[in-house]
Amino acid sequence: MDFNISGAVATVLLSWLLVNLCRLAYNIFLHPLKRFRGPLCAAATTWWKTYIEVYAQRSMTDVLEDLHARYGDVVRTGPNELHFSHPAAYNDIYNSAARWDKEESLYRCFGEDRSSFGFLTYIEAKQRKDVLQPLFSRRAIVKIQSLIREKASTSDSSIIDHLASVLTARDAAGKSSDLFFAFRCFTLDTITEFCFATSIDAMDVPDFKAPIVQAMEAANPTFVLFKHFAPFRKLIFSLPPSLAMKFSPETAGLTQLRVILGQQVKEVCANQESLTKSPHPIIYSRLLDPAAQNGYPVPVPGSLYEEAQAMMFAGTDTVGNTLMIGFLHILDQPALQVRLREEVCQVWPELSQPPDFQTLEKLPILTAAIKESLRMASGVTTPLPRIVPPSGATIGNHSVPGGTIVGMSSVFVHYSAEIFPEPNSFDIGRWLGKGVEGKSLDQWLISFSRGPRSCLGINLAWCELYLAFATMLRRFDMKLDGMTTKDLVWRDTFLPYFYGKHLTAWCEPIAK
Ligand code: HEM
Repeated sequence: MDFNISGAVATVLLSWLLVNLCRLAYNIFLHPLKRFRGPLCAAATTWWKTYIEVYAQRSMTDVLEDLHARYGDVVRTGPNELHFSHPAAYNDIYNSAARWDKEESLYRCFGEDRSSFGFLTYIEAKQRKDVLQPLFSRRAIVKIQSLIREKASTSDSSIIDHLASVLTARDAAGKSSDLFFAFRCFTLDTITEFCFATSIDAMDVPDFKAPIVQAMEAANPTFVLFKHFAPFRKLIFSLPPSLAMKFSPETAGLTQLRVILGQQVKEVCANQESLTKSPHPIIYSRLLDPAAQNGYPVPVPGSLYEEAQAMMFAGTDTVGNTLMIGFLHILDQPALQVRLREEVCQVWPELSQPPDFQTLEKLPILTAAIKESLRMASGVTTPLPRIVPPSGATIGNHSVPGGTIVGMSSVFVHYSAEIFPEPNSFDIGRWLGKGVEGKSLDQWLISFSRGPRSCLGINLAWCELYLAFATMLRRFDMKLDGMTTKDLVWRDTFLPYFYGKHLTAWCEPIAK
């Protein structure tokens, strides 16, 4: 019997085309979301998003802003996806009663599927977060703050003093400092000390250009690629590191990071005795303790690795970005820097006797400046996608069918002119007044998200922010070196990816 190859290929291609055309037609004309407005291409296919994010490299948050201006407070952004813009809708999606699953295509792209961050279901995440929670409770953070303030186990000075001494040395050498990288090195050294009782010594690398910090920065756009092209991600993660780096140089940094963490997990698993010698409990002390698992098995090494990577990514750029954005605006308003310093000096008169976190928390002006920095940095800028349960839900007064992917970017709350008038201005006064209609504005500060999947590291983050803001203000008189607030440009890649000028400043030490 004759077999016609070209005929067979043509039949396969034609069938593929037909199936996809039927799917497009279904998405546009019959899909349960057809009554929601949005771009036709978005309703038809998920490739629309791929085009926007990968090919056009536009920030999805900017695109969403345009779409909401055109279509109203709910927009269909994919065949099965809705985005909401009215601040009230945020609480309908992210609240303690909503135990909705995370959406797969975004959360799988990080390669952290078996971590507190990456588990898709509430049940799995809760089990893991319950194990880790004692390390991240407020009580634990208050107790362990000395790691940042006094003396890290791996060094002769505290982490924050180390940052101050490197900045001082640079100033003495007549150099300004890249605070974008400096803050990231500080947060990286803090998270590795906190989670692993080890330091990357990122702050010691010349010009704060620590390879891991750079690799993590470069990983942001890579994750977007991975989100849209899952087979590419699977290929990179499955190749031996040397081959992966050759095959895809743009993801080499991430591969290096995977090698370092993989080695760390291997060593801990091979020598669990070492955990008893750790100067303080670390994530492996909890994760490898059978008694801490509430009846579940101890995580496998792959899961330990993914948890470690999740901690590093969750805890480094987020705090670093908040510090960077806060100081950019504070240095842009010299009178504000002086006002903040005066307040910090009230509780920190002697340079050699820094106050603790609990004392700093009571300072109203400093607290307002940190809240305003969190607002403007917005934490994770991507809409955090969740799956509506089968029973459906009402979101922002819209009835949404079960199985729909829904999300809302924090930017739509934090930059809402109704809640935060003149949202593009860094105005700490808004946190010192009475809020909206006498109600505290705190309910609208959603940087750490809300509900069962909100940030595990919130207490650590606040502690780091108070200590770093206070130290920088008390120990340095700072001036911008060539950057203005207009130079701050970013694109949404889950976290904001800052592709413009870095915050660079002269940091002149204050003598006493
Ligand atoms: C200013 C600093 C921070 C901000 C703005 C922030 C923000 C967030 C947000 C918005 C989420 C929710 C993500 C999602 O739904 O997918 C989250 C989750 C998480 N954060 Fe943070 N974070 C910060 C610092 C930290 C720190 C220092 C850690 C410590 C390791 C941390 C660990 C985590 C973890 C493990 C999750 C996953 C929780 C879950 O999925 O249930 N974060 N964070």
